[in-house]
Amino acid sequence: MSKTAILEIDGKKYEFPIIVGTENEVAIDIEKLRGATGAITLDPGYKNSGSCKSEITFLDGEEGILRYRGYSIEDLADKADFLEVAYLLIFGELPNKAQLDKFETDIRKHTLVNEEMKTILEGFPKTAHPMGVLSSLTSALTAFNPKSVNVENEKELYEAICKTMGKFLVIATWTYRRRMGFPLNYYDNTKGYVENFMRLMFEIPTEPYKMDKRIVDALDKLFILHADHEQNCSTSTVRIVGSSHAGLFASISAGVSALWGPLHGGANQAVLEMLEEIHNNGGDVAKFVLKAKDKEDPFRLMGFGHRVYKNFDPRATIIKKAADDVLEALGVDDPLLDIAKQLEKVALEDEYFKSRNLYPNVDFYSGIIYRAMGIPVEMFTVLFAIGRLPGWIAQWKEMRLNKEPIGRPRQVYTGSTLRPFKEVNQR
Ligand code: SDX
Repeated sequence: MSKTAILEIDGKKYEFPIIVGTENEVAIDIEKLRGATGAITLDPGYKNSGSCKSEITFLDGEEGILRYRGYSIEDLADKADFLEVAYLLIFGELPNKAQLDKFETDIRKHTLVNEEMKTILEGFPKTAHPMGVLSSLTSALTAFNPKSVNVENEKELYEAICKTMGKFLVIATWTYRRRMGFPLNYYDNTKGYVENFMRLMFEIPTEPYKMDKRIVDALDKLFILHADHEQNCSTSTVRIVGSSHAGLFASISAGVSALWGPLHGGANQAVLEMLEEIHNNGGDVAKFVLKAKDKEDPFRLMGFGHRVYKNFDPRATIIKKAADDVLEALGVDDPLLDIAKQLEKVALEDEYFKSRNLYPNVDFYSGIIYRAMGIPVEMFTVLFAIGRLPGWIAQWKEMRLNKEPIGRPRQVYTGSTLRPFKEVNQR
């Protein structure tokens, strides 16, 4: 591999260093491009641009590989639990038993949310989308934890991380409880993190909550699968907001808003709505595949396609199997799962999808499982956010500890050139 790239503009040659990552990814370092040539690059959607070097997550879109800190997603989903993976992403190593117990104990110190947050929650209409409420409540946490994080102080940074892990889960479930008109639950420090999610969501004061280990185990796996995904839209948002030295809660709040979009995390809700529409239209998947191919029709096959994976999304493969297992275990026979499988089969045999390397992504099957667990469709993206939280934290921490500069892309101006002001009676 050559050590430099040569760029020629108007007959003049410029050399730029080539850097190679630990997985042999090649990048041209253009930090000095504008200073040397006066030119910038233009790359809408950053399809060809790297924003940073990172040691957290590796994706190979061509091979369908996903690894957190070098461990395969298959191994982690099969052998680890969510808090172990959160620790791995945030601190770089799988925790030993003492480290894991301490991490869980330290999170439990911060699972009580300030009671005044309830006043903010009650200000929202019951019909408010949970993602909008979650983004607002996450930002509001700053008001009750105003001390900005001194990232150079290891103790302060660790406490902010534990506080975020503890409080985010609680306020995420409050968005559902508010919507349902149910009383708000408190975290139970004698129970596990994912068990608490189920309790916080579904426990009602009139009867003891019956924990179903099959659901807890399946959710734990789903949270692991969603935990990080290198520089996706919401993670890039968390990094760029944090690059101005905005606080961790403010940065995570921005990430929640970015994740909400139907082209990103909001796709898991959109997939279910699409499957229900197909079901209500007599299950005619071919008709919807045609709609997805029709350039005149804005309809897209939700849960299909990916910016990076031009092969199967390894998470989709695991979730598809988990969907079969969970529905069988719960004795749920959901016609939408059959429709999803038919849709996948028809699309994968269709030249339009094959030629564009469009495969099911992480969002295609996850909603089927959430639905079988009794989780309402408006909460699907909130579950994505709960899973993605440790990844957002890990990426924010890496960006700040690496002292990365404030994110501020350039542009190519294509508007009006200089023109004289016109008085209103001359326009
Ligand atoms: C997530 O980045 C991440 O890592 C995200 C994520 C994570 O873990 O953080 O993996 C989570 O966001 C998964 C993606 C969830 N979104 C969806 O399922 C929404 C449906 N998918 C598409 O909107 C689309 O595939 C994207 C947004 C996911 C990716 O879009 P790109 O990379 O910008 O690709 P593109 O829009 O330029 O599409 C290329 C071609 C186009 O056709 P042509 O112009 O070449 O003729 O493929 C077509 C698109 O029209 N296409 C689709 C399609 N996705 C792409 N056509 C029909 N249905 C689709 N779903």
